[in-house]
Amino acid sequence: MTTTGTPPLPKAELHLHIEGTLEPETVFELARRHDVELPYADVDDLRARYSFTDLQSFLDIYYANMAVLRTREDFAELASAYLRRCPDQGVRHVEMFFDPQAHTARGVPMSDVVGGLTDAIDAHAGDVSAGLILCFLRDQPAADAEATLRAAEPFLDRIVGVGLDSAEVGHPPSGFAAVFGKARALGLEPVAHAGEEGPPSYVREALDDLGVRRVDHGIRAIEDDELVARLARDRTPLTVCPLSNVRLGAVPGIGLHPLPEMLAAGLNVSVHSDDPAYFGGYVDENYAAVRDGLGFGDDELRTLAVNSFESSFLDEPTRTALADQARRWHL
Ligand code: HPA
Ligand code: ZN
Repeated sequence: MTTTGTPPLPKAELHLHIEGTLEPETVFELARRHDVELPYADVDDLRARYSFTDLQSFLDIYYANMAVLRTREDFAELASAYLRRCPDQGVRHVEMFFDPQAHTARGVPMSDVVGGLTDAIDAHAGDVSAGLILCFLRDQPAADAEATLRAAEPFLDRIVGVGLDSAEVGHPPSGFAAVFGKARALGLEPVAHAGEEGPPSYVREALDDLGVRRVDHGIRAIEDDELVARLARDRTPLTVCPLSNVRLGAVPGIGLHPLPEMLAAGLNVSVHSDDPAYFGGYVDENYAAVRDGLGFGDDELRTLAVNSFESSFLDEPTRTALADQARRWHL
């Protein structure tokens, strides 16, 4: 948290889609650069369309806006603009998702996507450490995910893990067991979106069939006592995105978010921003939302930040050192 005159709470950002940091102004700037005709009159018109009813209503506009991302430079500028914000947000480490299939399907080579993102990561390495998590689109065939993993093989030294995102309901994790097995065999850390809109059984499948190290969202796990007990026992990280959950209607309002119940149940939860250009704020605004909307005090905020480092794929000494910094914030 930013409190005037004091340093922000140190934290790791573990649930951020880099394409979800594409601000409306940048959509227009890149459209002009590449002569892309947009179906919106101006930035205000575009922003006015960011009133979502569910995940799919968001995904439709999220994928449409990506049409302006064409070159390696575009990806580098996108990621640089995000990484530039990190110090003020207290973000010391990021594990960012990217959706290669949404770009290769438009003819952008994998090398330009990964190359642009890593150009930015390298340029900002003095301020924030960052890794990439390649997400498979679960509403596309598993064979496409396999082809995407093969296309990424030359770049695996720059990719820390694989994830699973896009439209959840009707696309359970079990369909991606084989490609996740191959990714794990290549040394990639497995994570998956589950239990955002989908049922608790999808969270169980992500654990059992994909072998995930973290569950992204996972809020609907709270409906299943046995699953909660298992997640708490194993300290399985759940990367929760409160503003996203409110804006996509996964919860009826911030005051009714299950995060307090999840913490009380002993779950290893941390707070993140998902798609900040679309959902009203970056990670610090998500911390502010749980402070103001759920009454979280410094103790709870520190716990969330400590959990974020402990749930990261950083090496153990770095993880522990950063978690200690979060533990000592404001004490
Ligand atoms: N859920 C699933 N897929 C996504 C999301 C999300 O919140 N954001 C970007 N892709
Ligand atoms: Zn997400």
